[in-house]
Amino acid sequence: MILIIDFGSQFNQLIARRVRENKVYCQIEPPTITISRIRALAPEGIILSGGPSGIYEKHSPKVTKAVFDLGVPVLGICYGMQFMVGALGGAVHAATKREYGFAELAVKAQAKIFKGVGKKTTCWMSHGDSAETVPPGFKIIGSTENTKIAAIADTRRKFYGLQFHPEVAHTAEGTTMIANFLFDICKCRPTWSMAAFAEETIAEIRERVGEKRVILGLSGGVDSSVAALLIHHAIGRQLTCIFVDNGLLRKDEAKKLKAVFAEKLQLNIRFVNAAGRFLKALAGVADPEKKRKIIGKIFMDVFEAEAKKIKGADFLAQGTLYPDVIESQSAFGGPTSIIKSHHNVGGLPAKMKLSLIEPLRFLFKDEVRLLGKTLGLDDDMVHRQPFPGPGLAIRIIGKVDRRQLTLLREVDAILLEEIRKAGYYRKLWQSFAVLLPLKSVGIMGDKRTYENIAAIRAVTSVDAMTADWARLPHDLMGRISNRIINEVKGVNRVVYDISSKPPSTIEWE
Ligand code: XMP
Repeated sequence: MILIIDFGSQFNQLIARRVRENKVYCQIEPPTITISRIRALAPEGIILSGGPSGIYEKHSPKVTKAVFDLGVPVLGICYGMQFMVGALGGAVHAATKREYGFAELAVKAQAKIFKGVGKKTTCWMSHGDSAETVPPGFKIIGSTENTKIAAIADTRRKFYGLQFHPEVAHTAEGTTMIANFLFDICKCRPTWSMAAFAEETIAEIRERVGEKRVILGLSGGVDSSVAALLIHHAIGRQLTCIFVDNGLLRKDEAKKLKAVFAEKLQLNIRFVNAAGRFLKALAGVADPEKKRKIIGKIFMDVFEAEAKKIKGADFLAQGTLYPDVIESQSAFGGPTSIIKSHHNVGGLPAKMKLSLIEPLRFLFKDEVRLLGKTLGLDDDMVHRQPFPGPGLAIRIIGKVDRRQLTLLREVDAILLEEIRKAGYYRKLWQSFAVLLPLKSVGIMGDKRTYENIAAIRAVTSVDAMTADWARLPHDLMGRISNRIINEVKGVNRVVYDISSKPPSTIEWE
């Protein structure tokens, strides 16, 4: 495995991605990691990441210098290179010329890290400070116009430093350099695969859980579904999934979930129908935040009451993903395992004295999808668009009642059917309908109608932080609108949302 020390760069996840794309397993750890923990991980190589600090700043992040005595290759990137220079006896100075953006790197000397790389190659820089002198044993292997010491190597000890960022796509031959580090320098083998990860994780879960029981809140979303399936493979019916039907789900959602997870995959699931409780509490409430709070609180109560019925449950499993774990561990402190507020079971482990199992905590979203596929989950489930915890309640603007829920379910089902048929489902981050608390006049046959308005929202996004409204083909939009107005009694007008995020959000409430 490759150990990545997180000095706080915004590109750290990219370094991890690049390593894993080469089928080599890696983990990102904070600089406070101890040398004994590093030894236990037995890395084949260490990457010191970039970061926003200067190495001489008082509170700049530092990793134990013992990493240089392990006999393991080290690659320092940007701040990581400067840290290595400082730690091994070279000097760093605040650059007179800042270098930001593209630069041409001239390769000055043969080194394994540049195997197959052109003599002149484009690299991407983002730094103020730079190395002034190289430590004993190092030589300069690459320079740019502004940065003489842009790449260094101590080939005997297998230490390499790159002032630029090989992990970003703008560094034209960065992937070659990373592959060189992994295979030529660290001698890693490309053996990490999802099947291997699944096998290892299943064995670990089995060992940790023993004869005990695990509970998991199954929502039907990709993360909780894959986590459930993985744990099910490990401990079978010692896992109890709790699925709460809050009455705010899409059409046939509970039915579909039952068919896939309980019947086909044979998971042990408790279905709790709490629709009445949720709807009663929501009656007459129009404020979005109030609606969210009510839903969160009831979910927690229902889940807890159900969990308590499961005797001997010592563990709570969650589908927490790697980006959340990385975000929660600061570059300057130790890792602090956060519990995602996810399905609002956040407070439960402490309250019920449960230990957490987070089998996906080292995976990125696309890796989770791949794992789901490896475990035999249908494509339909693996590639589901996200659906918010508060469900349709935040897609009915204002007060929520059963009639509106039925209307919105029908509208949403037609929309999704047409989006799927047109081959757009996977191209979109989300596509859904919103029911507005407005009526407008229409004409159907010879009759005047006065009915609801449905808004269609379809967005593209990579991480939901920003999103753009999808440019759906007009004929597809036409079909969606026609079908909704013709087939759903109670809706006589369809509008399309053309706002991006920011300044709008994806959901309307
Ligand atoms: P916004 O509307 O903030 O949404 O642009 C960003 C993403 O988060 C989803 N979302 C939620 N997911 N519980 C969830 O599990 C929630 O309360 C919630 N609110 C928004 C939304 O669907 C989008 O993918």
